[in-house]
Amino acid sequence: MKLFIDTANLAAIREVSGWGIIEGVTTNPSLIALEGRGLVEVINEITKWIHGPISAEVKEDVAEAMVEEAFTYARMHPDIVIKVPMTLEGIKTTKILSKHHIKTNVTLVFSVAQAMMAAKAGATYVSPFMGRLDDATNTQDAGYRLLEDIRYAFDMYDIETQIIAASIRHPMHAEQAMLAGADVATIPYQVLCDMLEHPLTKKGLAIFREAQEKNTSK
Ligand code: E4P
Repeated sequence: MKLFIDTANLAAIREVSGWGIIEGVTTNPSLIALEGRGLVEVINEITKWIHGPISAEVKEDVAEAMVEEAFTYARMHPDIVIKVPMTLEGIKTTKILSKHHIKTNVTLVFSVAQAMMAAKAGATYVSPFMGRLDDATNTQDAGYRLLEDIRYAFDMYDIETQIIAASIRHPMHAEQAMLAGADVATIPYQVLCDMLEHPLTKKGLAIFREAQEKNTSK
C-alpha cells in the first residue's frame, strides 16, 4: 500500500518529502482554502517536492466546465491527477478524461455502487472516505468494511481502478486500510507522525539508553 499525504500545506509536504516514504499528495478545496492561496499556485509548488500523483480537485459542477478546468490542471505537470466529485457530472467528466488518458481520482465515495460507477467511467482512483463514514454511522469499522467490499468487488472483476483510503483520522484507520487491501492510504501530516510512535517503543528506547549510560560510565 502506498502512502500519500493528505494536505495542501507546503511546510508539511516539504518535511515528509525528506522521509522518503511518501509517494503522492491529495488536496481538496477545504485544504487549499486553509493555505490562503490559489490551487494553481499551491499545486505548482507541490510538484517541486513530491514526485508522484498529486490530486487537484475541480471546482466546476457541470461536466463541460469540469473537463475544461481539468485540461488546465493536467497541462501543468504530468503528475497531476484530476479529482472529480462522485456525481453524475463527475462521472461524465471522468469518462471524457479517461478517453484523453488523463488520470482521475473520484472522490467522496461512500458505497460499492458509487465505486462501481466510477470504475465503469475509467477512474484511475476511487477515494472511499473512512472517517466521515465512521462518523455518520457512529462506528469504528464502517469505513473498513466499505474498503473490504470495494476491494472484493474490484478483484472479482479484475477492475484496475486503484482504491485510495481517504478521510483517515488516526493510525487505526491506516492499519484498517492496509488490512482491507487499499492500494493507497492518503493521510494527514499529524496522523503520519502518530503512526511513527508507540508508547512501548518510547519506553523500550529509554531502557536501552539508560543501560548504555550505565555501561559507558564504568
Ligand atoms: C481525500 O482525498 C480527502 O482530501 C480527505 O481525505 C478528506 O478527509 P476529511 O474527511 O478529514 O476532510
